[in-house]
Amino acid sequence: MAENNKKPRAMINGRFPKPPFWLTSVILIGLCLSLLVFMSILRSRGAFSHLPRVHLIQDMDNQVKVKTQHASEVFADGLSIRPKIPGTVAWGQLKTDDHLYRGYSSTWNNSENKFQVRFLNGIPVEITPNLLARGQTKFNTYCMPCHGYDGLGNGPVSVRATQLQQNGVAGMSWVAPSNLTDATIMARPDGHIYNTIVNGIRNMPGYGTQVTDVNDRWAIVAYVRALQLSHTGSKPKAEKTVLATE
Ligand code: HEC
Repeated sequence: MAENNKKPRAMINGRFPKPPFWLTSVILIGLCLSLLVFMSILRSRGAFSHLPRVHLIQDMDNQVKVKTQHASEVFADGLSIRPKIPGTVAWGQLKTDDHLYRGYSSTWNNSENKFQVRFLNGIPVEITPNLLARGQTKFNTYCMPCHGYDGLGNGPVSVRATQLQQNGVAGMSWVAPSNLTDATIMARPDGHIYNTIVNGIRNMPGYGTQVTDVNDRWAIVAYVRALQLSHTGSKPKAEKTVLATE
C-alpha cells in the first residue's frame, strides 16, 4: 500500500510545496561552507607567510641546477662558477678597436714599468641627426642632473648640493661639475670625453654601467661637442692625440 502514497507532488496554486526544513538548511550551510574555500584562497593571496607559495603547475620552475656564488661538489675547486679560460674571448666580444671601445690606446712602457696611454681624437661612428638626437636623450638622462641641460654645470643636483653645503649640512662636501664649455674640456680629445663617460674622472663617477652601448656613448660625446659648438660658436679644437695626464 505504501507505493500508492508515492505520487508526484502536485502543484498548489501554481507553486511546488515548500522543501522540508532540513533540506533548506543543508543547502544553505553547504553554500556558506563552499564560500570558505574562496575566502581562504583570497586571504592567502594577501597574507604574509614564510612558506614558499603553493605552486601547483611546476613546469621547469624548480629544477636541480647550480646557482652563481654557490658551492658545487661537481668540480674539484668546489666552485659552481667556472673561471674564464685564459686567452679565450667570448663570441662577439673581441673588442680590438681601441678607438671605438676605449677611446685611447695604450702601449707598455718597459722603462717606466707602466702603460703609456694616448687618448684618441675623432668620433669613430657616423655622425647623423639621429645619433645627435640619441646623444641628447642620453645626455639629458645621465649628465643633465649635474651638468645641466646646457652643460654649464648648473644641473638640479648641483644646485641642491650647493644649497645644502651653504646651509652647513654636516659632512657635506660637493665638488661642482665642470662647465663642459670650458676651454680645457673643449681641448680634450674625443676619446678623453668618451673615457670620462665610461670610467668617470676625479670626483665624477663613471656611467659605463648605465650607458652600455658604445654607439650611445659616442652619441653623448657628439652631443657634448654640439653643446660646446652652440655655446661658444667655435668648433672644439683638439689635438690629434694627447698624452694622458689623468
Ligand atoms: C653626479 C654628478 C655628475 C654626473 C651625473 C655627470 N657628471 Fe660629469 N662631472 C661631474 C663632476 C663633479 C666633475 C668634475 C670632477 C672633478 O673636477 O673632480 C665632472 C666633470 C666632467 C667632465 C670634465 C672632465 C675633464 O676632462 O676634466 C666631463 C667631460 C664630464 N663631466 C662629462 C659628463 C658626461 C658626458 C656625463 C653623462 C654621461 C656626466 N659628466 C655626468 C659630475 C657629474
